[in-house]
Amino acid sequence: MGKTFSFFNQKGGVGKTTSVINIATVVAGFGKKVLLIDLDSQGNATSGVGIEKNENESTAYQLLVENSDPAASIKKTTIESLWIIPSNAHLAGAEMHLISQEKREFILKEQLKKISNDYDFIFLDCPPSLGLISINALTASSYIIIPLQCEYYALEGLGQLLNTYQLVKKNLSAELELGGVILTMADFRTNLTQQVIEEVRNYFKEKAFQSVIPRSVKLSEAPSFGKPAVIYDPHNRGSLAYTELGKEFLMRFGSDDDRKDFARVVQETVVSTTPEEMQNTEAAPESEQPQAAQTNP
Ligand SMILES: Nc1ncnc2c1ncn2[C@@H]1O[C@H](COP(=O)(O)OP(=O)(O)OP(=O)(O)O)[C@@H](O)[C@H]1O
Ligand SMILES: [Mg+2]
Repeated sequence: MGKTFSFFNQKGGVGKTTSVINIATVVAGFGKKVLLIDLDSQGNATSGVGIEKNENESTAYQLLVENSDPAASIKKTTIESLWIIPSNAHLAGAEMHLISQEKREFILKEQLKKISNDYDFIFLDCPPSLGLISINALTASSYIIIPLQCEYYALEGLGQLLNTYQLVKKNLSAELELGGVILTMADFRTNLTQQVIEEVRNYFKEKAFQSVIPRSVKLSEAPSFGKPAVIYDPHNRGSLAYTELGKEFLMRFGSDDDRKDFARVVQETVVSTTPEEMQNTEAAPESEQPQAAQTNP
């Protein structure tokens, strides 16, 4: 049975969608069968993997509100081994319909039971809210993944987020675990970024992923080409960071065989890389101009 992950933070614009798209692509690239479910009416995950937001097609709305067969909403993306249940603006009305439904917090969980055997990983791109759609996502998930932007207010709202996680765990889904915290949009030149990284690592310990995602123009422009950045421009710093993060993700949540494979690959890389090559990698020039950190004074 596939493991399900909610990429969740009720704060807007912290990198949920960018993270889920790129990690899903990297994990699919390692041959895992991945289903991405876009649970945001903005449909950014949908367009971000090159699927048109067609008003007439079966989407996450039908899945949640009309209890339609999930298989009817699944679309193959152009990326090998990656499928998606798209979303569009209709989903904005879903919360209202869900309120009156029986077992309204468990609708997605029940729906996913029908298909979870077909995938290794199911990734849910949550909307920036604590509404019923997000609660459905958390209840249906084994793990919550929290993207945090490296900014002055990074930890603001975190108490509320963790409270929601605890409430769902206590009342709706005891098996829900904190899977990891992703630091996004880091500007390594600033003290602020260093401080946020330190604070988050102190607080979340090993739950914080080691790979920190830098601010990168390529990451933000990739969606306009309908491609995840790791495919649009695999060699920029942002894509490389997501590739590392995807590997870290598989080390954490993959099978024992995955871990063995990675240990071998890492060893082979270390053995085959000369000290000069290592130095060149570290000294690689910036191919892009990082934007200024948002300090929100
Ligand atoms: N590392 C990054 N560097 C530069 N821009 C980024 C980075 N990550 C995300 N962005 C850009 O920041 C904006 C917000 O990112 P994203 O859509 O991934 O966040 P989100 O949490 O899903 O937002 P929402 O809450 O609205 O769903 C987007 O325009 C995205 O392209
Ligand atoms: Mg989003």
